[in-house]
Amino acid sequence: MAAKCLDLMFADSVRRVQQESCGHAVMITGAPERDPLGVAETEFIAARDSFYIGTVSGNGWSGWPYVQHRGGPPGFLRVLDSSTLVFADYRGSRQLLATGNLAVNNRVALFLMDYLNGERLKVLGHARVVDSRTHPELLMQVTPSETKGNVEWVMVIDVVSFDWNCTKYIAPRYSVGEVEALATSLKARIVELEAELRAVKLEAGLI
Ligand SMILES: Cc1cc2nc3c(=O)[nH]c(=O)nc-3n(C[C@H](O)[C@H](O)[C@H](O)COP(=O)(O)O)c2cc1C
Repeated sequence: MAAKCLDLMFADSVRRVQQESCGHAVMITGAPERDPLGVAETEFIAARDSFYIGTVSGNGWSGWPYVQHRGGPPGFLRVLDSSTLVFADYRGSRQLLATGNLAVNNRVALFLMDYLNGERLKVLGHARVVDSRTHPELLMQVTPSETKGNVEWVMVIDVVSFDWNCTKYIAPRYSVGEVEALATSLKARIVELEAELRAVKLEAGLI
């Protein structure tokens, strides 16, 4: 875990439980203000076609965790620089839950999965929703040209830190696109073999 992430996540209550259960609590000293995304994080994010975003509803102790799925073409969550992520936001169901939550508490947790390679990355940050009409430069960054007309808002995330989780217990899963890519060479081979079989049968007078 990057130092700032440890610093933020190991709250007093967590450290108390660590102390009770393990006999010691992890003490973080000298954590930076933020941990910039590196090459590994940037490449991982650029390859994702979905992620989960967690926000907090309401105020203070009355707030509830709220998690939503976001999906798009690989790289739709753009890394603008080592501390900035952006993605297109749509009015959708008009519930506007994440957007409403962010108006009160701008903290977000992103959860990105690579089911194929069994890897997962968490990102902590502060998010804001900006109007795409007043920020055309951001609109250019977030979406393929054919859908630009629909994108009213852009979600901008100032990254505070990140955490790579261990790879255990992640069952490999394939997207339809990945299955199709794998099946392409198999299908070509089947066509080849069927032609060979047909030629052999013809020669043997079986058809
Ligand atoms: C035209 C349109 C396109 C959308 N495209 C996407 C999309 O590509 N990916 C996605 O995750 N959600 C998409 N949505 C859903 C919205 O982003 C939706 O508002 C959001 O998932 C709900 O967020 P909330 O739970 O914070 O209210 C789209 C909605 C509309 C109306």
